[in-house]
Amino acid sequence: MTSNPYPLGLRLHGRRVVVVGGGAVATRRVPALLDAGADVLLVSPELTPALRARADAGRLHWVPRRFVPEDLDGAWLVQVAIDDPMAAASVSAVAAERRIFCVRADDRTAATAWTPAVTRHGPVTVAVLGGGDPRRAMTVRDAIRDLLAVRLAPDETAPTQRRPDASTGGPQAGRVALVGAGPGDPELITVKGWRLLTEADVVVADRLVPGLLLDELRPDVELVDASKIPYGPSRAQEEINQILVDRALAGAFVVRLKGGDPYVFGRGGEELLACAAAGVPVTVVPGVTSSIAAPAAAGIPVTHRGVAHEFTVVSGHLAPDAPASLVRWDALAGLHGTLVILMGLKNLAAITATLIANGRSPQTPAAVVQEATTGTQRVLRSTLGEVAADALTADLRPPAVVVVGDVVGALDG
Ligand SMILES: C[S@@+](CC[C@H](N)C(=O)[O-])C[C@H]1O[C@@H](n2cnc3c(N)ncnc32)[C@H](O)[C@@H]1O
Repeated sequence: MTSNPYPLGLRLHGRRVVVVGGGAVATRRVPALLDAGADVLLVSPELTPALRARADAGRLHWVPRRFVPEDLDGAWLVQVAIDDPMAAASVSAVAAERRIFCVRADDRTAATAWTPAVTRHGPVTVAVLGGGDPRRAMTVRDAIRDLLAVRLAPDETAPTQRRPDASTGGPQAGRVALVGAGPGDPELITVKGWRLLTEADVVVADRLVPGLLLDELRPDVELVDASKIPYGPSRAQEEINQILVDRALAGAFVVRLKGGDPYVFGRGGEELLACAAAGVPVTVVPGVTSSIAAPAAAGIPVTHRGVAHEFTVVSGHLAPDAPASLVRWDALAGLHGTLVILMGLKNLAAITATLIANGRSPQTPAAVVQEATTGTQRVLRSTLGEVAADALTADLRPPAVVVVGDVVGALDG
């Protein structure tokens, strides 16, 4: 007779879990055990490279031989991740003798414990058992995951920074997430960024944020278009900071959605400091930055073996001779690697001239990628000596990334 399994959440932190086998199954099972803080002992003559990397990093103990009963000394749980049914049965028999629960990859019916399909959502873990059918469990799990992505309250366990000390009496109600929206393709936001967006009460969005992401917001979400805020650039930033702080202090969950990554020429740091000064907790969700994604979208890797061992990301919004410029263009000209210039179209002629005057060859390959990863992406390939004139002729417009270096042609057949 089969009875229903009894679900439990095992708290494995610091507790010994023995994994027998070092192949594909173990590779899939071990990360969740490590994530739970388990003290993993892995018994197997061989390991996959992924497991070996974890062993080398000291994240688990590896015993490079076959299983012996003493391996279960002090164990709370055993995972048998080997195909050989005889060997699996003998591990399982030792475990049963010692009253240690045993998960078996080779034979679920012989196991004393089953691993569920899992979805994690902030503090919530949902584990689904499909009555012995893993596919059924995964299908149900996927449906629940989609539901939770839309329904659950903001993630309270996310690493928050500068959360005010409760003893200072700081407000606890609202909070802010600085979320990187990626370079343009709405699918290039992170899973976490997307989840927080679906949970927001207020979204403060930049001009470069993919419009389609905003299309999918709930109708009751207040959308603040930060690019429409009047005044000059610094005043507008103050205004944005104030909106973030005010809405959060009023109890809202505010998502500040920014193009690319919030900390790459994104003024995310200023917004974080403004929130911190007002006692508002902030979560930062990194994004896919255009400085890497735009070259990639044009078939240009920012590094390539034997071609470039470095890449430098620089803002070209100020001309090289502008007194306020913080960039040592003369030093950059001496580098061999890849130079990625953001916001550089307007000053491109002065920038390229400065690089050449300081020693970078005018023959160095260069490219401009406009509106990367969107349906209107344009790519121009040229050389350092000619790219400024070519960009003008082609009428390229911001947002665009300029790439300089041999990587520009590295993948050309
Ligand atoms: C204020 S910076 C913000 C950068 C952003 N935080 C990031 O990580 O991508 C804006 C500049 O990023 C670059 N940029 C952003 N999105 C781009 C895209 N889809 N295609 C090309 N360049 C882009 C352009 O150089 C643009 O002028």
